[in-house]
Amino acid sequence: MGTRLGDWVDQRSGWRQSWTRTFLAKIPRLSWGHTLGAATLMAVVILVVTGILLTVYYVSSPSDAHQSVQYVTNVVPLGWLIRGLHHWAASALVVLAIAHLIRVIMHGAYKYPREFTWFSGIALLLLVFAFGLTGSLLPWDQRAYWATQVRIEVFATVPFVGDWLARFLQGGEEISGLTLSRFYAAHVWLLPLLLFGLVWMHLRLVTRHGISSAPDEEPRVRRRAWRR
Ligand code: HEM
Repeated sequence: MGTRLGDWVDQRSGWRQSWTRTFLAKIPRLSWGHTLGAATLMAVVILVVTGILLTVYYVSSPSDAHQSVQYVTNVVPLGWLIRGLHHWAASALVVLAIAHLIRVIMHGAYKYPREFTWFSGIALLLLVFAFGLTGSLLPWDQRAYWATQVRIEVFATVPFVGDWLARFLQGGEEISGLTLSRFYAAHVWLLPLLLFGLVWMHLRLVTRHGISSAPDEEPRVRRRAWRR
């Protein structure tokens, strides 16, 4: 019965091929470094779940944003935990994504045929920074304001387009309610959409090419054979 139902669904969805490719694929001997991609993905999942929960109470207007965050932290049951998880997972994501990138460089896993996996990874890293920039303004307190001010001043130093970029990010000549609105829209709509698309593409490419083995694995096997 189980297999017949499985066949019925498979003929219509092709789930068996995806399942085999993802979970039953042959993989090389892996190191702890190979777990960093999955750990990065875990941080993304925690951020998405806690982020959705935070939007239940967060209000993105200049008069209420700060109070709504205080309300989540001090009044909403377990609100402090959800906010804390979102905050620490965001920091962990940056560290894990960079550690994952270093592992990829050390194993030379960016080379043929994994160039597109690498490019999508670079785009993901830029996206992670964009999440950081837009998210840190949302608490709408002194720290959020001045941290954003400093970052926007850095953008303003970009040759030729710096001034335009700073005005575009702020929605005017200075940080205001408009900045808060556009950072919020980017943080909860635009960037997550890009994130889902890029993560999907990244993982599709990983399953397509398979995980690369550590570069020293081959010679070690050969060396052992030679000694014998
Ligand atoms: C949100 C960020 C990211 C997520 C969720 C993610 C997720 C993953 C996962 C689950 C894997 C398979 C397991 C592994 O090799 O560790 C992987 C592989 C890979 N990732 Fe990422 N990654 C991210 C960012 C990056 C970055 C920043 C780069 C580099 C620019 C990158 C480049 C690669 C490459 C080249 C592979 C293939 C490695 C191999 O076959 O050995 N990724 N990624």
